[in-house]
Amino acid sequence: MALNGVSALIQPDYDRKAELRAFDETKTGVKGLVDAGITEVPRIFHLPSPENLNSQQPELTLPTIDLQGIDNNLIRRKEVIEQVKGALESWGFFQVVNHGIPNSVLEEMMKGVRDFHEQETEVKKKWYARDMRDKTRVEYNSNFDLYAAPVTNWRDTFYCTMAPNPPQPHELPPPCRDILLEYTEQVMELGTFLFELISEGLGLDPNHLLNMGCADGLAVLGHYYPPCPQPELTIGTQGHTDNDFITILLQDHIGGLKIFYENQWTDVPPITGALVVNAGDFLQLITNDKFVSSQHKVVANKVGPRVSVASFFTTGAIPISKVYGPITELLSEDTPAKYRNATLKEHVEYFRAKGLDGSPALLHFKI
Ligand code: OGA
Ligand code: NI
Repeated sequence: MALNGVSALIQPDYDRKAELRAFDETKTGVKGLVDAGITEVPRIFHLPSPENLNSQQPELTLPTIDLQGIDNNLIRRKEVIEQVKGALESWGFFQVVNHGIPNSVLEEMMKGVRDFHEQETEVKKKWYARDMRDKTRVEYNSNFDLYAAPVTNWRDTFYCTMAPNPPQPHELPPPCRDILLEYTEQVMELGTFLFELISEGLGLDPNHLLNMGCADGLAVLGHYYPPCPQPELTIGTQGHTDNDFITILLQDHIGGLKIFYENQWTDVPPITGALVVNAGDFLQLITNDKFVSSQHKVVANKVGPRVSVASFFTTGAIPISKVYGPITELLSEDTPAKYRNATLKEHVEYFRAKGLDGSPALLHFKI
């Protein structure tokens, strides 16, 4: 059965390309289908085999790290660095609380994303674009990898490069303009702080990762997962790893994010006021596999919409030739480099061309 499913995917017995194009041309994404009242998931969204939606909570729970009081207490700081290090070595993920970004800002940011996606269709369509990142820096579409990925995901996304070279306020969509600027500033500050802790967790100078440019670029993605009539047939976001240094994710109360850990999919429980932090492929690469960029996915849900805001620390969206490889200080005769040097541009192009197909992009850069 599974084999049939896979071959059907490789060579669908329908004109998949034409159906993708028709969907793309609506410029209204998955939300447009739901608004039109569909009761069945169209076949471009079908997984080869149904998703198991039962969430069995394993014994293991993702660590939550409390940043309270870390600024003026060296002992606390050391403890937190150990927690961050432990979490990134095993899970590649953790949640943070008391991170300094007020709840009101988090809530307004989620509202801004929701308002963007729920604004008047004709106005929203004007933001619909694909492969125009260098020109516009702001775009909205459904499935960045629509034509490359084997399964279309039940998700629409607003994408914006906020650093370096942030857009002028008037270039940002009015429903989330002000809050996007405010949130970006706060997420940059938190990200910078996290890179200091991560550097220290690697036994390096606190500024090491910052000096490498890890916090120089930021892309903010506002995801919108509409309610789905047959959630087991499709997926919100296909299993993948992130192509950045770290991601700071804000999710609402609906849930559905799962991490592949110790051979099973584990829920990331929504915690009000918390942010989810994870290592991306570039962090795994520069740390020579010390910190792991874990597979994660988002299941579809009858309930919705679910809103999340993913902040990607990466400079990949702008054409730069900066080369990254494993950090020399982490290598020795016993621990040789596992990856070759590559430009960020090469990574991003490889990742985008491949789409979310379930295979790890990092393999391409392995020695
Ligand atoms: C991503 C991602 C998870 C979510 O944007 O890469 O994994 O909860 N998002 O939307
Ligand atoms: Ni991700």
